[in-house]
Amino acid sequence: MKEYKVPVISGDGVGPEVIREGKKVIDAVAPLEGFKIEWIHFPHGTDHYLKTGEIISEKSLEELGKYRAIYVGAIGDPRVEPGVVDAIIVSIRFAFDQYVNFRIVKLLEGVSTPLKDKGPKDIDFVVLRENVEDFYIRVGARAPKGSSHHQLSLTRKIYQTTFNVGVQTDAEEIGFHIGAISREGSRRIIKYGFELARKTGKTRVTLLDKANVLPEMYMLWREVASQVAGNYPGIEMEFMYADAATMWFVKNPEHFQVVVAPNLFGDIVTDLAAAISGGMGLAPGANLNPEGTSMFEPIHGSAPKYTGQNIANPIATIWAGALMLDYLGEPKAAQRITRAIENILKAGKIRTRDLGGPAKTAEMGDAIAGEAVK
Ligand code: IPM
Ligand code: MG
Repeated sequence: MKEYKVPVISGDGVGPEVIREGKKVIDAVAPLEGFKIEWIHFPHGTDHYLKTGEIISEKSLEELGKYRAIYVGAIGDPRVEPGVVDAIIVSIRFAFDQYVNFRIVKLLEGVSTPLKDKGPKDIDFVVLRENVEDFYIRVGARAPKGSSHHQLSLTRKIYQTTFNVGVQTDAEEIGFHIGAISREGSRRIIKYGFELARKTGKTRVTLLDKANVLPEMYMLWREVASQVAGNYPGIEMEFMYADAATMWFVKNPEHFQVVVAPNLFGDIVTDLAAAISGGMGLAPGANLNPEGTSMFEPIHGSAPKYTGQNIANPIATIWAGALMLDYLGEPKAAQRITRAIENILKAGKIRTRDLGGPAKTAEMGDAIAGEAVK
């Protein structure tokens, strides 16, 4: 029997609860399709950080890099400040150059959307979020007045050359981050978007940006996009400001087919997109390096207030597991899982709290596992 070794980071909050169900479903379908998964547990997350001081070491990353796919629950915990353990996710994305963050926005039958008069045929698109550039490169600093280190003078220079004013440079303290995108980095995600559109018979690719206020970055993005689009006759390309896109996601979701977004805007619009397609409990994501190590996770966070209550909806994680099986080369097993998710939601008998029902996390996992082996 074929065997895959897959590292798992259950993480924080509800992460372990939803990952348990994801593994359960995968383990149920695997033997029917002639393979087996050996799960390799990695302890990373807040407890591990508080106990050992390790966020994620070079050595751990090196170990993870031996495998094709990593399965992740959720990371984040109010015991530590923002940006500390979140670095686990971001470090993995960067370490393995997972430049595509593939996020499905699909309202399934049996799920309600907060959008009035919209149904499953209206909400069915994909957001491809660039995943390793933009404001996530983590170049930044806090610079108090009077500090003489390099960053302050850099900041001063940035302020002065940008605004040609002196007043801000007298501020008590400033904090800044620099965002940067590259021609190559833009090209590969945009190309991925057009390829996906072509493969899936879509006719429109929408590119998000804020070229109106950040033209140095996003006119580069647009220039690259126009070049790439030239190779795909028959696929329409359009530019849309990211803020306007949030409005159109709500007013006219049926307009969208494939959306390609820079990293930070992609982060923001996919929470909104998850909400219109039934909620964070249903939205899966894949961090892809098509030639390397990829990572599969729900889009939602660790939801610390629900920890240990067995009430989180595991579907986003189970669905991410299906994306992982597809990536590993087991499309039939993946289809079994997505079909089971669709059937269970459509039947509507098992509903977790977010879907308005009393079902527990594990009951939802059991129901999907049972349906997937039929
Ligand atoms: C996401 C999350 C992450 C991000 C956090 C946890 C670092 O919000 O995957 O959307 O900002 O990318
Ligand atoms: Mg996010």
